[in-house]
Amino acid sequence: MRWSERQRAMLREIGIPPFWPEGPTTETDRPAPPATEGAAPTPASAQAPVVTPVPVRPAVPPPASSPAQGRPASARAAGGLSRATPPEVGLGARPAGIDTMDWATLREAVAGCRACSLCESRRQTVFGVGNPAADWMIVGEAPGEQEDREGEPFVGRAGQLLDRMLHALDLTRAEAAPARQVFIANVLKCRPPANRNPQPQEVSQCEPYLLRQMALVQPKVILAMGRFAVQSLLKTSEPIGKLRGRVHMVQGVPVVVTYHPAYLLRNPADKALAWADLCLAREVRAAAG
Ligand code: URA
Repeated sequence: MRWSERQRAMLREIGIPPFWPEGPTTETDRPAPPATEGAAPTPASAQAPVVTPVPVRPAVPPPASSPAQGRPASARAAGGLSRATPPEVGLGARPAGIDTMDWATLREAVAGCRACSLCESRRQTVFGVGNPAADWMIVGEAPGEQEDREGEPFVGRAGQLLDRMLHALDLTRAEAAPARQVFIANVLKCRPPANRNPQPQEVSQCEPYLLRQMALVQPKVILAMGRFAVQSLLKTSEPIGKLRGRVHMVQGVPVVVTYHPAYLLRNPADKALAWADLCLAREVRAAAG
């Protein structure tokens, strides 16, 4: 496959050098990415989209009550949704009726949420940004320090790369029509202390908010970025490398998975794979009419 000049310009936009080979990489010509994002990369671009339905499971209900506790400050690390010595997560009650809330009520419910102990350490919740009727929804992991401070997802270095990736597709988070202005949300609405990995209980407490956001936005395609977004949306522990290159269905919405921008900053060679994922998402969006 040969890149057109326009595609090359887009590749430059996301930082893939113009001297990149004349086609997407395959698992035979580059090492598999580290386990933090998923092994066994699959080239997506040359394949016909394969659709895999994902059953929507109800979120795990919180236990009756358990005290909020402090959690150790460990850096975000490799591993799945669980860790060898997981921090203790205090759980509280989740607001009732999330699945029927309108946008304003949902935003308020998130802002006042005390359903897990992340509420003790957050500066503020990070609801999401963009067009509430967007054709494209981007789902990331959790706010980091800057997002916690500013109340907006993806405002740090990873966010800058995300913005370049969006720009390469003629998309933006800034004010625009729903066809161009995306909606960006995270699996977790609160920052895990010291950017540690989200814990399974935190993900399941927060999940109804994201599912309601998806139901209200009704995007034509969702781009799930990074292991936590992908694994929690698709209800799987499969690595990204095994899930990318095909289309998954969640709540009737096509989901395309790709690497997290923070991972791509550390592993720039995988930007070519991410570009193939973006192209697949663009195809899916175009096919939706
Ligand atoms: N990483 C994410 O997944 N989300 C953010 O909002 C910031 C960094």
